Order: sequence, then C-alpha cells, then structure tokens
Amino acid sequence: MRKRKISRTGTLIAFEGIDGTGKSTQIKLLADWLRAQGEDVVATREPTDSVYGRRIRELYVNRGACTPEEELELFIEDRKLHVKDVIRPALNAGRTVLTDRYYYSTAAYQGANGLDVKQILQRNRFAPQPDLVILLTMPPELSAERISSRGGQVNAFEQLSYLRRVSEIFASFAEPWICRIDAVQPVTSVRDQIRNALSRL
Ligand code: TMP
Repeated sequence: MRKRKISRTGTLIAFEGIDGTGKSTQIKLLADWLRAQGEDVVATREPTDSVYGRRIRELYVNRGACTPEEELELFIEDRKLHVKDVIRPALNAGRTVLTDRYYYSTAAYQGANGLDVKQILQRNRFAPQPDLVILLTMPPELSAERISSRGGQVNAFEQLSYLRRVSEIFASFAEPWICRIDAVQPVTSVRDQIRNALSRL
C-alpha cells in the first residue's frame, strides 16, 4: 500500500463512475447527512475551474484539439492545483473531503483513450490516496440514455463505445478502499449503501 497519508487528520472520499450514475446527487445527500451530524465537510469536484479545467471543458466539444498525452497533462495539472489548494489544506485541517471524480477517472478515461493505465496511476502519486472510493456502476448503455434524457449533450468523453472501455477499466480496479455500488437502484437505496460503506472508515 502506498504511504501517502502522512500528517493528515481528515478523511478523503472520492466518487467515481461514468456520467449519469448520480455522483453529484449522492455527494449532496452525503454532505447534508454528514453536516447534520456535525462533520466539517468540503464538497469539491474535478475538473476544477482552474485554467486547466477550463481548457479541459473546451475539449468536450473538440476532443481532437489535443493529443491523448496533452489531454492527460491537463487533467494532471488540474489535479495538482486541486490537491495543493483544496484537498491537502482541508485534510490537514481535519475536514472530510468529498470529491466528485479523482485519479481513478483519469486512469479509466485517459486509459480508454489509449494510454497505459498503470503509468497514469504512477503519474498521480502526488495525490493523497483516498480513504474510500465510492464507485457507482451502471451499464454504459443506460448511462448514455440518462445523459441524453436529461437534455444534456453527450460530450466527447461520453460516447457509448468509449464509455464501454471506460467502464471496463473502472471494473478492473481492485484496491480494498474501492466500494462498488450498483447505481441502477433507486437513489435512496444507493444513498443507504453509501452510508453503510462509510462505517468501514
Ligand atoms: P463531469 O461530467 O463529471 O464534470 O466530468 C467531466 C468529464 O471529464 C467526464 O466526461 C469525465 C472526464 N474526465 C476525464 O476524462 N479524466 C479525468 O481525470 C476527470 C476528472 C474527468
């Protein structure tokens, strides 16, 4: 196991999974629940609003604008700022950080874009290891359906064939801190399973 928890007292929980699995809904429910119990919670997300995050969003409509390697660099630089400015300070202050996407998204999405998954994870070693990863799972077909039914345009990162590869990579992660939850279930069932998973911490 990687030693990346030195001098921190807070808790880091990452939400991962393909789009349409309800990550942001569940983060809100969990943040409200934890706050009601007096926890000091920071809810955050990637890509961030940094200069790198803005460039990443431009790629949603024109992914061909950069190479897979350049795209990876943007996600890594965005995460470096996120870790330095938000995640580490919050963990050092003993807060509970809930992040909507983290380095497993980079491994899965940029891995599905042809890059080596192990190398991507190596490149992310600067990022504190999460205490818990809630990986919300769903068939990619349903995810694509949900994205279009909410009126959203399927961005260049969410095309069905690509989502299938992303899902396969997500399915390959086996670290003990990853908890998979079937996101096809009703929101309240998913919510209860997430609360249960937190009892591991
Ligand atoms: P979002 O829809 O959750 O805001 O995420 C933005 C998109 O960026 C989503 O399609 C997944 C993708 N993404 C990556 O390709 N690599 C990453 O490292 C992250 C954080 C997101």
